[in-house]
Amino acid sequence: MNPVKLTENVYWVGAIDWNVRDFHGYSTDRGTTYNAFLIVDEKVTLIDCVKKELKNDMLARISEIIDPKKIDYIVVNHVEMDHSGSLPDMVELIQPEKIICSKMGEKALLQHFHQKDWPYEIAKPGEDISLGTKTLSFIETRMLHWPDSMFTYLVEDKILFSSDAFGEHLATSERFDDEVDQAILKEELTKYYANILTLYSPLVRKLIAKVQEMGLEIKMIAPDHGVIWRTHIGMVMEAYTKWSNHEGDGKALIIYDTMWHSTEKMAKEVGAGLQDEGISFKLLNLRYCHRSDVMREVLNASGIILGCPTLNNGLLPRMAGFLMYMRGLKPTNKVGAAFGSFGWSGESVKLLNQAMEDMKFNIVADGLKVKYVPEDADLNQCMELGRKVGKEIKANRE
Ligand code: FEO
Repeated sequence: MNPVKLTENVYWVGAIDWNVRDFHGYSTDRGTTYNAFLIVDEKVTLIDCVKKELKNDMLARISEIIDPKKIDYIVVNHVEMDHSGSLPDMVELIQPEKIICSKMGEKALLQHFHQKDWPYEIAKPGEDISLGTKTLSFIETRMLHWPDSMFTYLVEDKILFSSDAFGEHLATSERFDDEVDQAILKEELTKYYANILTLYSPLVRKLIAKVQEMGLEIKMIAPDHGVIWRTHIGMVMEAYTKWSNHEGDGKALIIYDTMWHSTEKMAKEVGAGLQDEGISFKLLNLRYCHRSDVMREVLNASGIILGCPTLNNGLLPRMAGFLMYMRGLKPTNKVGAAFGSFGWSGESVKLLNQAMEDMKFNIVADGLKVKYVPEDADLNQCMELGRKVGKEIKANRE
């Protein structure tokens, strides 16, 4: 088990999870990593831990450098179990002098592990902790993405340990951003922001502004998942700025489910209307596209057109589930429209529009309902719906 050196006396000692394929509803097709970092100084410090099941991987890596019992401080940037699951075992083994966490972190640790006697030390922004030759500084990042979340900055080495922010779910034997396939990296970075951080975009904007205001020099960003950024820091910052501002790319998505292909026929004609207006689009059938991959596409899209037939006075279950997921993440600044086939009651379009209203989408056309199977006149209307959305996307671009 090889640890990986970041800078002098600073090492990655985390664990690679090659097998995980589901992260509470987010499909992690390429696995992930849980990153932990060791700083060897007068006070030996471990930053974050790993999932309980992978504790021995972390311990083996630490042992390559130093006896784990020599660790003095454990910094907990974030309490979620993928980073703290192994913490109780580590505390028992190490008997650390300090467990450094945010105020909310202390609360969350108590609520997770119920250990009143642990040596909690509250990290406060502006109150640095010296490790000997190196210094830890702290940035509060409450609700990015949990109340306890914080960043730790290693002053002398200019490394920002950013917890879940700037991460991606990607299991690789490589540890740095410039060592992996850039297209895959961008895809996973996008998917991660879309599925974890979209809801917190206003806070991401504030955080980026705060980091810029602080004039923090950053040589590396070391998140708790995926690769360590040392070459493409500008790219990742730019991407977070763009995503947190909900800037669309001028493209549209037709996200749909279908029962007997009527709604699918409608979807194709909506696409033809978009094409007429010169708008690039994708058809995403929820039967074949996982909700978290669809959300990755939603993050950058300017137009979202939802299609679903009516089933039992409601929506098909895959669409209902997707809407629940998307509403939770609250993407905004989208042009929206809805369509769907029905047999007798026909509630689906109204429900789709309601969901988009909740997310404050700009709904530009009346929802389009077609009884049973569309004929030519219906399909022409679908095309018109696509054109309307296309025109609005173009108008917003100008
Ligand atoms: Fe990677 Fe919010 O835990």
